Amino acid sequence: MTVSTELDRLARDTLVANDRGGYTVPNAKVYPFQWNWDSAFVAMGFAVFDEDRAWRELETLFLGQWQDGMAPSIVFHRPDPGYYPGPDTWGTAHVPPTTGISQPPVAATAARALFQAAPDKAQARQRLSGLFPQLLAWHRWWHETRDPDATGLVTVVHPWETGRDNSPEWDEPLSRVKPLRDVSALRKDKTHVNAAERPTDDFYNRVMRLVDEAKALEWQGELVARGLSFRVCDIGVQSILMRADRDLLALARELGRDTEAAVLEGWIERGVAAFGRLKHEDGSFRSLDLVSGRLAPVATSASYLPLYARACTDAEAERLAQILAGWSTKAVYAVPSTSPKAAAFDPVSYWRGPVWLVVNRMIADGFKGYGLGEVANRIRADSRRLAETHGLREYFDPRNGAGLGGKDFSWSSAIWLSWLSPTCDAVEGRDLVTTD
Ligand code: DGY
Repeated sequence: MTVSTELDRLARDTLVANDRGGYTVPNAKVYPFQWNWDSAFVAMGFAVFDEDRAWRELETLFLGQWQDGMAPSIVFHRPDPGYYPGPDTWGTAHVPPTTGISQPPVAATAARALFQAAPDKAQARQRLSGLFPQLLAWHRWWHETRDPDATGLVTVVHPWETGRDNSPEWDEPLSRVKPLRDVSALRKDKTHVNAAERPTDDFYNRVMRLVDEAKALEWQGELVARGLSFRVCDIGVQSILMRADRDLLALARELGRDTEAAVLEGWIERGVAAFGRLKHEDGSFRSLDLVSGRLAPVATSASYLPLYARACTDAEAERLAQILAGWSTKAVYAVPSTSPKAAAFDPVSYWRGPVWLVVNRMIADGFKGYGLGEVANRIRADSRRLAETHGLREYFDPRNGAGLGGKDFSWSSAIWLSWLSPTCDAVEGRDLVTTD
């Protein structure tokens, strides 16, 4: 058996083994519940061999949706003592229990990918019709509750909402968040993986203060959006949301929902106009600290995601390709999560340097969308080599490819099946979805 065939099998086995009955845990030890953006990628992985199960992953995720439209970062379907902070710490009122914050909105893009791949469109349309109002309500929550002044820039109130938890982009905004208590002894993650590959105790103490602040506001949407001491526009969430808006717009048209399509067009127009505020003088795009009004001093892998959002001009896309080429002199594998030229770059620490396959997929999609296929192909080739040589790990050291964090990871398995496996070559590298 070739390495690739072996990995095809391992990836399927991993998804099946991590399936808890309608939802998939990212990793049995480190993350024993349903995580939001993990599930969106996982659905695309299941779609390769079990379409019904793929739709269910998204349907189950929305069992956690709040009345105000928020789709939480974690749904705690069943208790598990192996994770901190669990449902009691969050103290939200929802059943099933959830966190009180969201995560990058990939689900509409996943739904579109599932719909496009479905052989029986009538059946897929039914599943899609069930999900559409939930997806739209979530997008509305971002565009209204998290952009209460209609600026076109959405607010993120917690580093965990960005999905890139300890990215150096958050160092400065977090420096103003003063810890109130020491939670280091409560952490479970360090017992599952090497502590050097995880965020620091100082990080946990600060981000848990944000949870306490939101609890004191009883998790009320607009109060949280306006009142937490950490408020940023994350270039990652901003871009992923715009791409998902575009995909949801295509689905609205597919379902003949003209009124909703018009609403989505309005959000997209407003968002595109706002991207100018996120452009750094070096040509990269950056997160914006909404408290200080300053752009992040460091470029990260998310700086390339405006390509995925189709929010750049051709010239901006060319410039991003140049910037990425400059990174490869310092890192063997594309795309390090933090610029390897930055002082904060740390090749083993979670989002401060390691390569993550899901981000690579979005960035490659972005370059391809701008006709920069060679850059996209290099990112895909690097990603494939990482998985083939080092396994379906959570993240990888960009200097030598070493596998880091959790093992047998669900979204890495899903990315293998839906994008990296040679079986995808016949379907054009299985593009996420065709963009208009
Ligand atoms: C964790 O616990 O590390 C997660 O990323 C939070 O969502």
